[in-house]
Amino acid sequence: MTVQARQIVLARRPQGAPRIDDFALGTAALAAPAAGEVLVRNLWLSLDPYVRLALSEQPGLHGTVPLGDPLPGMAVGEVIASASAELPAGSFVLSRVHGWRDHYLAPAAELQPLSTAAGPIERYLGLYGLTGITAWGGIYGVLKPQPGETLFVNAAAGAVGMVAVQLAKRAGARVIASAGSDAKCSWVTGTLGADHAINYRREDLATCLAELAPEGLAAAFDNVGGEQLEVMIDAMAPRGRIALCGAIALYDGENYRAGPCNLFAAVEKHVSLTGFNAGFYFPQAPQIIADLAAAEAEGALVHEETIIEGLEAMPQSFIDLLSGASRGKLLIRV
Ligand SMILES: NC(=O)c1ccc[n+]([C@@H]2O[C@H](COP(=O)([O-])OP(=O)(O)OC[C@H]3O[C@@H](n4cnc5c(N)ncnc54)[C@H](OP(=O)(O)O)[C@@H]3O)[C@@H](O)[C@H]2O)c1
Repeated sequence: MTVQARQIVLARRPQGAPRIDDFALGTAALAAPAAGEVLVRNLWLSLDPYVRLALSEQPGLHGTVPLGDPLPGMAVGEVIASASAELPAGSFVLSRVHGWRDHYLAPAAELQPLSTAAGPIERYLGLYGLTGITAWGGIYGVLKPQPGETLFVNAAAGAVGMVAVQLAKRAGARVIASAGSDAKCSWVTGTLGADHAINYRREDLATCLAELAPEGLAAAFDNVGGEQLEVMIDAMAPRGRIALCGAIALYDGENYRAGPCNLFAAVEKHVSLTGFNAGFYFPQAPQIIADLAAAEAEGALVHEETIIEGLEAMPQSFIDLLSGASRGKLLIRV
């Protein structure tokens, strides 16, 4: 059996924000699986900001996609042909690399088997996957908010941010959030339960934080980096804790690893900055997923997914994700 896979490939290395011509639709002929391999039909593809880093030539854990190669990403799919006793045809699997395509061949040992018992399978790309585990790790693993503490979350209407806001509220914190439009801010307060939301595109973040938290922030969850991280460091209370989750404001630039210019303020105020990587929490995934499911069952956790149809829509959806046009977790149904 030969399958003609369709895949989104890198046509041109983006300069600044990605443009639609940076991507192209390609094909690849896939043979029948060799011993130990499976052929998978992807059902759901995840859109994640870190993929932008793999499109650049900057060094980092993400690697660099060669021109003409398919993009890497997370996906859930169904095994349609198998030469592995561990993953027979009909199994559902998660891949952390074979996104952005409709079919792929891979060694069964590289894939994570999934059960449909916990609800819709696409959840493993969102709440029960990278973004939910990231939010859990940043809030409960790093920041450990105490009741009554004031905690700030930026990019709060995004996939990680929306879960982080709600977990912080569940821990009893007072949550100040920021997002890039008035509509997003209304949703962050009205649906997610944040106490205040700042539209950083219209309002001055430093001024708003000074007004809303005159004693300073006890904790902050940073998805954005760059100038927002500098504002955050200045807004921290003595002994404040910052969880460094991402730096999306820098991903289109020439040095996404650039540091804040006011780091010494952290020394003066005894503020801790803790970087964290969700991968370090994957061994705890079953317990984390159980806790997220419990939060949902308590009514303390809303998870919004924006579903876009078809592989061809993926490049534009990725551009929309990075530019802030979307809300919640963005998924492609293949
Ligand atoms: N540490 C880890 O293991 C880990 C794992 C997953 C994700 N992450 C990081 O977590 C962050 C959020 O990821 P996500 O998947 O949840 O994406 P997301 O928040 O759903 O989407 C990105 C959002 O970032 C905001 N944004 C984009 N450019 C910005 C800028 N220049 N300034 C301020 N906000 C900007 C936009 O929302 P607005 O409309 O609000 O601007 C956009 O919707 C990213 O930095 C990502 O790399 C880290």
